[in-house]
Amino acid sequence: MANVALLGSQWGDEGKGKVVDWLTEHFDIVARYQGGNNAGHTVIIDGHKSVLHLVPSGILRPNKMCLIGNGVVIDPAALFEEVDGLQSAGVQIEDRLLISKRAHLILPYHRGIELGSEERRGSDKIGTTSRGIGPCYEDKAARSGIRVVDCLDTDVLARKVRANLAVVNKMLEYLYERPAFDPDEIIESYTAFGNRLRHFATDTSLYLHQSMAAGKSVLFEGAQGTHLDIDHGTYPFVTSSNATAGGICNGLGVGPTCIDAVLAVAKAYTTRVGEGPMPSQIEGEMAELLQNTGKEFGATTGRPRRCGWFDAVVVRYAVRVNGLDAIILTKLDVLDGIDTLRICVGYEIDGKRVDEMPAETWMVERAEPIYEEVPGWSQQIENVDQWEELPAETRQYVERISELIGCPVGMVSTGAERRAILQVPATPIEGWLS
Ligand code: IMP
Repeated sequence: MANVALLGSQWGDEGKGKVVDWLTEHFDIVARYQGGNNAGHTVIIDGHKSVLHLVPSGILRPNKMCLIGNGVVIDPAALFEEVDGLQSAGVQIEDRLLISKRAHLILPYHRGIELGSEERRGSDKIGTTSRGIGPCYEDKAARSGIRVVDCLDTDVLARKVRANLAVVNKMLEYLYERPAFDPDEIIESYTAFGNRLRHFATDTSLYLHQSMAAGKSVLFEGAQGTHLDIDHGTYPFVTSSNATAGGICNGLGVGPTCIDAVLAVAKAYTTRVGEGPMPSQIEGEMAELLQNTGKEFGATTGRPRRCGWFDAVVVRYAVRVNGLDAIILTKLDVLDGIDTLRICVGYEIDGKRVDEMPAETWMVERAEPIYEEVPGWSQQIENVDQWEELPAETRQYVERISELIGCPVGMVSTGAERRAILQVPATPIEGWLS
């Protein structure tokens, strides 16, 4: 049984929710390894839209187990809002959702710190989702974080909350001029969350090991994207976790030898939400067309996403740092009716051609895209589910992307619906689906 990873190759929002939902059919367990409720995974089934932020998208398929690993940061208020929403929509959660006892919790003061910090940065702000993600990971690295397991014991919780607030409240007051937090209120509400978390909390690493030993297959679900990764992204305009394949091992407590294949989702064009460079960004009519046809508004914050042409430099980098076996290209139907398509094949920076993503983020900001033009197609391809039925130009576009990024495109998504997806012949995808 193959264990497969699925992650984002660009700046997130590549359409992972839909692809995870589709792939889940072939796996027993879906496990998330990083990020938090900054993510927004949209799945549309028979016209009904579900947006998941923390719970793995696999929850929408009956009988599949879903895990939230130790690398995920959990805002319990957001988690239980999502759980309650899913339950009232008829989705069974009990006995299907497991949460790592080692996962760190987002506390209300994390959001307070983040708002203060973003305000202080002024025009250099990151443009975060304001969910407290960064400060929670900061506490984790500073060894003052509060984990799920701490929340199950009121004495431990109270001691840690009081110790943290003794520092945080001073910082909020003097540095950020923001309101302080009452420790008693937090202890009370997080004790209540602890009582609910108790039913889901376990050693998810042990669960995964035992399940894999018993022949169960696992889909590792990434959130955000490679270029938002804290180590490999366009730092500092990144999130605070490892969204790349490397994050799977420490975010779930599995060894690299457990991962049989790594797949990534790439949008057929490029989008980015929040601040930070995006060399192939475009303005004007074409940008508006992509934004409106592709419904490019954040699933978590509703912010409009910046849009641009497919950037092969960006995705080729993702192929390398994740060791990708195949790409799943999404939202290809959004490009219907565009006469000529452009693909960014390299950058010109200060008069020099650059073919790899520079570490100097300020150079990425100055990068002028070098485009290759390819013919578009006039037909509508929405919901086409056979490779051979795609127009020749569409197939050429996919094949050219595959050549430029140095990785096979194994599947193509042609619409928002669960069924609008097709496999590209002679690519290795099938071998990894049980
Ligand atoms: P944070 O993760 O809220 O700290 O935000 C850091 C950066 O990551 C910002 O540019 C956000 O817009 C971006 N970001 C975080 N989560 C997502 C996501 O799920 N999709 C796209 N961008 C995201």
